[in-house]
Amino acid sequence: MRGLSGRRALVTGAASGIGAATAARFRAEGMGVLTVDRAGPCDLALDVAAPGAAEAMAEAAKARLGGLDVLFANAGITAAQPLEGHPDSLWEEMLAIDLSSIFRLCRACVPLLAESGHGVILMTGSVMSSFGEAGMAAYAAAKHGVLGLARALGVELGPKGIRVVCIQPGAILTGMTKGPFEAQPEFAAYWREKAALKRLGTPDDIAGVAAFLASDDAAFVTATPLVVDGGATAHP
Ligand SMILES: NC(=O)c1ccc[n+]([C@@H]2O[C@H](COP(=O)([O-])OP(=O)(O)OC[C@H]3O[C@@H](n4cnc5c(N)ncnc54)[C@H](O)[C@@H]3O)[C@@H](O)[C@H]2O)c1
Repeated sequence: MRGLSGRRALVTGAASGIGAATAARFRAEGMGVLTVDRAGPCDLALDVAAPGAAEAMAEAAKARLGGLDVLFANAGITAAQPLEGHPDSLWEEMLAIDLSSIFRLCRACVPLLAESGHGVILMTGSVMSSFGEAGMAAYAAAKHGVLGLARALGVELGPKGIRVVCIQPGAILTGMTKGPFEAQPEFAAYWREKAALKRLGTPDDIAGVAAFLASDDAAFVTATPLVVDGGATAHP
């Protein structure tokens, strides 16, 4: 992809799934990559929602990469929980990890991204950034927030030369979906059938899109979502 070689990226949630595949793809494109996760192999082990985590990640990017060109705010969790009996703690944890941590990380990294001259922020939303589903109140609310954040920051940061895009994956086979898909094969079958391409997505399907969006080939793309779901949500 145009312009990626030599650029520096911070990838959160990089020990598994979409983040791991994207970190590997960025490296294959010749980029310097700093990986962050709270569990599993990575360069910086921390909880992205912990107090001070955003500043620690920005400092690590400066110290270890010498700056930052691409921020991929991707770490996230999910859980299904009906509204009745929905604990406050789950609502707060989901919002903290899936939304608030991205806001803080963007705020901490913008000075580095502005210095870059071609800064890019990619955030992982979901098809659930655009619709809802029973039992997914907290996840859908957080992911709708991610899309709003991408649009607002894209507009605000454009004059600094920073692009912001919300990637909206459909059903992707990762650590997040493995358990639910194995426990409920009909859930996986539903998503496979719903996709126009009649398959589930792979982490590499998202990694390729992330590489494109981070590259100069996407130089005029900002403040927008990009749905990557094999056509699953193009129809009711
Ligand atoms: N898999 C899907 O079908 C799907 C669909 C839409 C959106 N997404 C989104 O994609 C992103 C990546 O998920 P995935 O599918 O690759 O799942 P995954 O579970 O394979 O990977 C997520 C990674 O994030 C890390 N993580 C979670 N909370 C963290 C925290 N507080 N601090 C640091 N690291 C943390 C986990 O340890 C894990 O390594 C998430 O934001 C998820 O909501 C996934």
